[in-house]
Amino acid sequence: MARGIFITFEGIDGAGKTTHLAWFRERLEHQAARAGAAVVLTREPGGTALGETLREILLHQPMDLETEALLMFAARREHLAQVIEPALARGDWVLSDRFTDATFAYQGGGRGLARGKLETLERWVQGEFQPDLTVLFDLPPDTASTRRSAAREPDRFERESGSFFSRTRAEYLRRAQEAPQRFRMVDSTQSITLIRQQLEQLLATLSCLRAPDPHA
Ligand code: TYD
Repeated sequence: MARGIFITFEGIDGAGKTTHLAWFRERLEHQAARAGAAVVLTREPGGTALGETLREILLHQPMDLETEALLMFAARREHLAQVIEPALARGDWVLSDRFTDATFAYQGGGRGLARGKLETLERWVQGEFQPDLTVLFDLPPDTASTRRSAAREPDRFERESGSFFSRTRAEYLRRAQEAPQRFRMVDSTQSITLIRQQLEQLLATLSCLRAPDPHA
């Protein structure tokens, strides 16, 4: 059986990731079903029982920056081992709300942790493994902050300043430039309808991402 496809959604808080995720998942399920695959929707930090416990701590408890980065990667290791790798091996398609690009963007860009340290952790935790496709929702931080939900208390990251989110966004854009074959940019200043059209086109190209089955 062919290996599955790993897709990640990224962007600063308020850039529209959550708005598009449920709709995209539904479309993805239709497409995956045609290929005989299921869709696993998951998120980071989180995605496993341990990961969700770490998420609670990461989002609400003050901590040293390096601790924060280490916990993000610890949650990720568990996520890869328990959820992502087995699903891809089964041939399923995995859609993750954030992955390693978020650590480079938030802990690296936003908080200023040296990129070399993050690269070391990335290699340790995931080797050469990367998403097949990363959809980056891009929006200026001022616009993103006015769109952020006022319905609940902001977490530790959502309370950060405009300059924090400018640095986070800049690091996302740098990563996208570095790996243009993996990233697809979505200009989140556009209407939901236009963004859906763009996502629809992207969905149509997905089958090309499937790696050939080494056992076929
Ligand atoms: P988010 O994905 O925005 O979820 P929600 O829509 O429920 O708020 O929240 C996760 C937060 O965690 C987000 O502010 C970014 C942060 N984060 C990091 O700082 N580093 C990481 O590696 C990951 C995965 C997330």
